[in-house]
Amino acid sequence: MMTTLSGRSVLLIIGGGIAAYKSLELIRLLKQRQAKVTAIMTKAAEQFVTQLSVASLTAEKVYTDLFSLTDEVEMGHIELSRSADLLVVAPASADLMAKMAQGLANDLASTTLLATDKKILIAPAMNVRMWQHKATMRNLSVLKADGVRVIGPNDGEMACGEYGPGRMAEPVEILAAIEAHFAGSALPLAGGAATTRALTGRKVLITAGPTHEPIDPVRYIANRSSGKQGYALAEAAVALGAETVLVSGPVNLPIPPGAQMMPVETAAEMLKVVEAELPADIAIFAAAVADWRVASTADQKIKKGSGGLPDLKLAENPDILKTVAGAAKAKRPKLVVGFAAETENVIANAKAKLAKKGCDLIVANDVSAEKGVMGGDRNTVHLVSASGVESWPELDKSEVARRLMEDFARRLGAKS
Ligand code: CTP
Repeated sequence: MMTTLSGRSVLLIIGGGIAAYKSLELIRLLKQRQAKVTAIMTKAAEQFVTQLSVASLTAEKVYTDLFSLTDEVEMGHIELSRSADLLVVAPASADLMAKMAQGLANDLASTTLLATDKKILIAPAMNVRMWQHKATMRNLSVLKADGVRVIGPNDGEMACGEYGPGRMAEPVEILAAIEAHFAGSALPLAGGAATTRALTGRKVLITAGPTHEPIDPVRYIANRSSGKQGYALAEAAVALGAETVLVSGPVNLPIPPGAQMMPVETAAEMLKVVEAELPADIAIFAAAVADWRVASTADQKIKKGSGGLPDLKLAENPDILKTVAGAAKAKRPKLVVGFAAETENVIANAKAKLAKKGCDLIVANDVSAEKGVMGGDRNTVHLVSASGVESWPELDKSEVARRLMEDFARRLGAKS
């Protein structure tokens, strides 16, 4: 049976990190789908998994050394980097990402990454603090600007005992991103030509989920957004061939295969990541951003009993939608879409919001309790723009997303 990966050649670069054991499972999944997998291991990777396990699973020679004479005779690093259809770095450690961003080439992995002319997909994995460090975030922006695709990291409990973003995406998620790459790539697939879809070559930026605004190290202000509509939109954007970036607050949903996930916690972080991702062709603001944050968060857990109730002073959060809609022309996406969750006067409130935010379109929905939209699977939306109001019947959130994305692609086409 042919699969999307039949006959494809993947060069897997295994970086150092406890997540390296998951790369073995990734190899197994790729082989099962008939891909050819060749692996390079960094010195640090060899501390976590052995060459023997990698070689047994790939059924290929494993490359580790830049200066190995026999390897250079068999296949040089330039050849190694170019004979593959796709390079996958999993786990991508902070060190490897820094090397890639700087163009360093002092071992086989980094040299191969610098010498390649193929697309690169990285699956970062590291400690939460290392991931959130300004240097890593800077390197991540550089890599994305260079066209490197990123999957994960996921939120969760880390091997070091801390909690937060830093866990490598699961092997099935990386596999899905690899499949999406080949399904959407312009490379002719055996037996059929690649198709161009409505958003091929376009970048779609989506915010989703709630934001968490910390009070102290253990408490935060949040809301009930499930993130479902935003995630469904990301899935629909990938399906239409868009480069899809999903900037998401903390939710309990799997990363849509093929989307680039940028996990954030607060409104301020969300704004920063969104701005770093501009320019984009379409920006969709489906996140339920907290309107307020605690003006000064406590460094230590606030204890009760000492001096009465805590005096929580709030400060207003930046309006991300309004900021992007009002950005200078070079940065403003051609189509800026906001969402309005209303419990009464849905259309009138959405019209007011369209003017207030300066966006091109508001997708309004009735979230009054009897409709069961919040956290539910169905939604009734109204599209409010300068040219009028269009009301849709009640549909599944995924169907709403599919139709919305097709509508956005048409509006974008009409604008450009
Ligand atoms: N939004 C945003 N940044 C904020 C607040 C909202 O980007 N700080 C975006 C949301 O993602 C959504 C739209 O703005 O697309 C919703 O606007 P908002 O005025 O927050 O809606 P409601 O919360 O429904 O507003 P209100 O409380 O005024 O009814």
